[in-house]
Amino acid sequence: MLYREFDGLVLDYSRQNARRDTVEKLFKLAEAARLKQKIHSMFNGDRINSTENRSVLHVALRAPRDKVICSDGKNVVPEVWKVLDKIEEFSELVRSGSWVGATGKALKDVVAVGIGGSFLGPLFVHTALQTGKVCILANVDPIDVARNIVGLDPETTLVVVVSKTFTTAETMLNARTLREWITAALGPKAVAKHMVAVSTNLTLVEKFGIDPNNAFAFWDWVGGRYSVCSAVGVLPLSLQYGFSVVEKFLKGASIIDQHFYSTPFEKNIPVLLGLLSVWNVSFLGYPARAILPYTQALEKFAPHIQQASMPLYFPLRLRVSMESNGKGVSIDGVRLPFEAGEIDFGEPGTNGQHSFYQLIHQGRVIPCDFIGVVKSQQPVYLKGEVVSNHDELMSNFFAQPDALAYGKTAEQLLSENVSQNLIPHKTFTGNRPSISLLLPSLNAYNVGQLLAIYEHRVAVEGFIWGINSFDQWGVELGKSLASQVRKQLNSSRTKGESVKGFNFSTTALLSRYLEVLEI
Ligand code: F6P
Repeated sequence: MLYREFDGLVLDYSRQNARRDTVEKLFKLAEAARLKQKIHSMFNGDRINSTENRSVLHVALRAPRDKVICSDGKNVVPEVWKVLDKIEEFSELVRSGSWVGATGKALKDVVAVGIGGSFLGPLFVHTALQTGKVCILANVDPIDVARNIVGLDPETTLVVVVSKTFTTAETMLNARTLREWITAALGPKAVAKHMVAVSTNLTLVEKFGIDPNNAFAFWDWVGGRYSVCSAVGVLPLSLQYGFSVVEKFLKGASIIDQHFYSTPFEKNIPVLLGLLSVWNVSFLGYPARAILPYTQALEKFAPHIQQASMPLYFPLRLRVSMESNGKGVSIDGVRLPFEAGEIDFGEPGTNGQHSFYQLIHQGRVIPCDFIGVVKSQQPVYLKGEVVSNHDELMSNFFAQPDALAYGKTAEQLLSENVSQNLIPHKTFTGNRPSISLLLPSLNAYNVGQLLAIYEHRVAVEGFIWGINSFDQWGVELGKSLASQVRKQLNSSRTKGESVKGFNFSTTALLSRYLEVLEI
């Protein structure tokens, strides 16, 4: 059976280039890779992130209060709920207007500053839940900062600095910029009322000048890109939507955690998806995967799964796979004899159909994830039309997988009287794989389910490939080179020192940059 249902969700994987016996063989591969034991190790709090000597326990972030999940023999669930309770209390104070700013006014805008996992997850969930406009401050680019601060009043704004380490250069620069924006308008004491933090490094939070009482902790056993269910996501989202809505999101994720942990592989949605991804990447050699939600509300889902890095913010008014599995060595440090990880990209349908689908239909083979929703958040029925706007959108969701799977033959085109010269152009080979995932609606609970399915799918792929999906050493080299450049810019500006210690190309570019700035 190539069709699975769980808790209102439907997964159809009948359009994969995999026969029933292929799937059976993939289960054997899972057995050989000790997939079940690895899943259990993760849930048991074993230090499976061996290069950083850490447990991987994002599942504890959404566990029910009475569940016992241990790291180093200590049940972490009570600590998780302590922070959740604190968030509930704080967000209610702000939302009700009881928490006032330095001048006694209630706070009505929230600016969340973060990067990578400290922002992409919250952005995805926020975009999925809201129906109005999302304001986005991208990067430390001063133009974007200026554009986005323009509509905000420091007197009524709460800044949430989100950083696991509280050292990330971009986030700390944005945080300092916003601190200056607040103190210039309201004085240095205003920080206590207008800035709060989410971090594992509470010492640095305090050093920055944020009251430790206004800090919301999380833990080393939460990877940055798996942190949306910690205070990283829960705080800004509770400020926006109220804690009860965010609690539903956590419940949706938790139900998938239980399903992933205990369901036999043949009915286990994240396991099936993970195994099929391994099949596509490592056996069929398809290097990419398109994530194609047929709902605009999921427009930030592909970037979150992709784990791209960009700092952003959203007002109260109002990316996981490539960093995890883009690895070149096994967990034991041995160079992989195969390619791991896939290039994820995507856009909501039908927008994508009018840009990159041509390549997917006739060019390279790119396995597609079609994600659809039965009930629209905002259905529109135009007068005199039986088919709603949502039906129109979903017609495409149902049609595209078949177009890719069946294609169109020259014989069919001939029978339609297509002229000979156009036949090669209008022929589609078909046999192009996709999965279809149909959600009942897109409420907070379903968004939690979707997040957890994809998080666990990434873990399954990593477990089969034998890599560490929970570290990200590849990001470090760029960071340390940027810091050398920063030092050079500093010494050139302050002491007029010429550029040295870089290759010819970088020296020339940097010199030019410094020269132009001086004009
Ligand atoms: O991109 C690398 C990374 O370390 C991510 O894993 C993390 O989410 C992001 O940078 C931001 O780090 P931090 O939350 O410590 O500021």
